[in-house]
Amino acid sequence: MIRASIAGASGYAGGEMLRLLSRHSEVELFQASSRSKAGRYVHSVNPNLRKILSLKFCSPEQLKPCDVLFLCLPHGESMNSIERYLEIAPNIIDLSADFRLNQSSDYVTWYGQTHSQAQRLDQFVYGIPEIHRNRIADANYVAAAGCNATSVILGVLPIVQEYCVDSIVAEVKVGSSEGGRSFSEGSHHPVRSSAVRSYRPVGHRHVAEMKQELGIEKIYFSATSIGMVRGIVATCHVFLEHENVSEIELWKIYRRSYQKEPFVRIVKDRTGFHRLPEPKHLAGTNFCDVGFVSDPDGERIVVVSALDNLMKGAAGQAVQIMNIMLGVPESAGLEFTGLFPV
Ligand SMILES: NC(=O)c1ccc[n+]([C@@H]2O[C@H](COP(=O)([O-])OP(=O)(O)OC[C@H]3O[C@@H](n4cnc5c(N)ncnc54)[C@H](OP(=O)(O)O)[C@@H]3O)[C@@H](O)[C@H]2O)c1
Repeated sequence: MIRASIAGASGYAGGEMLRLLSRHSEVELFQASSRSKAGRYVHSVNPNLRKILSLKFCSPEQLKPCDVLFLCLPHGESMNSIERYLEIAPNIIDLSADFRLNQSSDYVTWYGQTHSQAQRLDQFVYGIPEIHRNRIADANYVAAAGCNATSVILGVLPIVQEYCVDSIVAEVKVGSSEGGRSFSEGSHHPVRSSAVRSYRPVGHRHVAEMKQELGIEKIYFSATSIGMVRGIVATCHVFLEHENVSEIELWKIYRRSYQKEPFVRIVKDRTGFHRLPEPKHLAGTNFCDVGFVSDPDGERIVVVSALDNLMKGAAGQAVQIMNIMLGVPESAGLEFTGLFPV
């Protein structure tokens, strides 16, 4: 059995890690840390885990050696404490952005700070299995990708791999859980409920990951918060340098890229009302659904992708990464199909 622990387990991403690992056939869920909830049962924070897990939160200082450690900490905390975490576990999967970017200068550009562990950046593999499966299999340290970045990257990747892309304009609509458990006046229910709030029209940090992984400089990205709790839907307008691409061609390249992928599904139907991806049906699952439409004027391809930010955008992707790293079936612990209707 794989002995797994979670640092930052009382947050939203950590809570999903608890749910997934509690049902993982190859994992013994060992410890779960939280500074503010230490000594309390995990179900006092995550009520869905009552009678599922009898574990109590420990303090971060009480974390003991284990086989794999998941870091579900706010930005900056993984890099601050990485030396200690490396002593605890030979395998680390960090859900934060602290080790996602290859260039330390990108942290100054996008995060406005100097990276305190720049010498360790090249020890971490960027965690999207559909791009880096082989590297992840050989890695001990993986930085799971950002949720918005995952939705955009998986959406447009087949096109980027096949054609010369001039530019991408992407807009995501996201649920409130993306902001984590801590709250502010802006997340207070009367203010946040039913809001459609453009929260990052320019300058979103995940653009750095998109540029790094797609190798395209002209990516224009905006993010809007909407009334969902979970989920992301990304609408990506892809402009090619020359070609006009038919939908038959697009079908071919998307099938080639994703036919064998366990967690990426092509959603593109001609009829019905589930013609393109919708995050509502993905809540709690590790799927990223992708669809595409070629604009009849030939100038752009519109790609729509959807996922659950706490699953394929965070904890689900992290479990998928662990499965690959430690050589267990890639879908283990990630079998939930979602609900319909919900
Ligand atoms: N939410 C998402 O959709 C999502 C998606 C992908 C990636 N992520 C990333 O995953 C990480 C966690 O996100 P989240 O949404 O789960 O955040 P969250 O709900 O705010 O949870 C943060 C967790 O870290 C603990 N923590 C806070 N400060 C700490 C410190 N200085 N030392 C040790 N533990 C500390 C908190 O518990 P205590 O304060 O009790 O210690 C809590 O358990 C972030 O880096 C985020 O960017 C989040």
